[in-house]
Amino acid sequence: MKVLIIGSGGREHALAWKLAQSNKVEKIYVAPGNGGTAGEEKTENLPLGGADPATAEGQAALVEFARKETIALTVVGPEAPLAAGIADRFRAAELAVAGPGEKAARLETSKAYAKSFMEKYGVRAAKSRNFTDFAQALAYTEQQTLPVVIKADGLASGKGVVIAASAAEAKQALSAFMKDGVLGAAGKSVVIEEYLAGLEVSVLAAVSVTSGGKPVIKPFISARDHKRRFEGGQGPNTGGMGAIAPVPDFTAALQKDFASAILAPTLKGMEAEKMDYRGFIFFGLMLQNRRCYLLEYNARLGDPETQAVLPLLDSDCAELCQAVADGNLADFPLKWKKGAVCAPVAAASGYPGTFRSGDPIAINKAGLEKTGAKLFVSGAQRGRGGSSGSGLHTSGGRVLTVSARGEHAEDARGKAYSALRFVNFDGMVFRTDIGTEVPAADKAEAAG
Ligand code: AMP
Ligand code: GLY
Repeated sequence: MKVLIIGSGGREHALAWKLAQSNKVEKIYVAPGNGGTAGEEKTENLPLGGADPATAEGQAALVEFARKETIALTVVGPEAPLAAGIADRFRAAELAVAGPGEKAARLETSKAYAKSFMEKYGVRAAKSRNFTDFAQALAYTEQQTLPVVIKADGLASGKGVVIAASAAEAKQALSAFMKDGVLGAAGKSVVIEEYLAGLEVSVLAAVSVTSGGKPVIKPFISARDHKRRFEGGQGPNTGGMGAIAPVPDFTAALQKDFASAILAPTLKGMEAEKMDYRGFIFFGLMLQNRRCYLLEYNARLGDPETQAVLPLLDSDCAELCQAVADGNLADFPLKWKKGAVCAPVAAASGYPGTFRSGDPIAINKAGLEKTGAKLFVSGAQRGRGGSSGSGLHTSGGRVLTVSARGEHAEDARGKAYSALRFVNFDGMVFRTDIGTEVPAADKAEAAG
């Protein structure tokens, strides 16, 4: 079959790589893809000519392409196209797609909606309240113990969460979101939430909840992102500086707690709301006092978690995505390989602020291959920088991830950092501690 992947990051590169391993897949298009997907087996980038898959025109063009090319399955990576109804448009054209429709994606696109859903169905989460009135929000905030968490309701590319350590900071955040409109419509409504200290875990899962089929959420092996730019959980928040899978401290007891306190009521709520959810979901958890709390849902796979999790998937990825798209997941045998993955991200100097770009990337292929690690591209393109040998040059803040599988976490970490030595570009920076947790420092996590 022919598959279409929507997106351009490391997550989409990992999906293309994994889907290409399926005997069922003859051809993969990635729209628009990146310099990594361009070089992947069976894979071709589909330049969108400036058309954005998060717009009606871009989506119409993709539906047209999928029809013409007889694409059997489309997998949507990022949230923006989902929020803009790409899955609805594909389904309306009777095209199979793994990704929730606009309405179901509200679990990610509106934090106020997500919090109301959690409360209604008893999903364990931080205590919170939703506000659309600045004065009321401020009055409530002043009664809370500090730090207090202020979240913009809508999508804000990681800029919508402020952990305010003082009343002044809280007021400033509320003003910026609700009065100054720094995030546009996304910040006009806010969620004010109790601060939870602890370690975070990401559980990605496949979902099929439809009117016809047997409703099910099948969780993947656990993962942990490392959000802060610097070692020990210091510095500014980023899109993620590396991930591991599975998470050693997400014990069997915690997994059981997650299943009963978070997954089961989520599934119940989806059914009760008569959601049509055929896609992936991401549970962002905080572990505290041996209990799981849900911080957020994302209506998609995580990045860079996907680059750490997919190498451990022992089931056919195309069959999995097809079962998700068909809403027919209940009997799907989701299997995992033994071992662990460590996947540090190499970023461009300056990231997450203004970063340098256009630097040729040198890759010692033979050396890299010996480590067994796989390189996934996040922000690099082909074309210029030919002298480097790889033909790739940097084009994004997060440039690439090396994903190494080992017998256990320590083994994977050793391999991943050996592999990074075979990759080089001017201004390359990375965290040296992916997979070694420093709980005390992470407790002070503040998201920008
Ligand atoms: P969210 O977009 O809701 O996942 O928030 C982004 C990040 O902010 C999370 O990954 C956490 O690091 C942090 N965060 C969000 N909510 C809380 C909370 N209630 N307590 C502590 N940290 C939080
Ligand atoms: N790694 C977090 C995310 O994908 O949003």
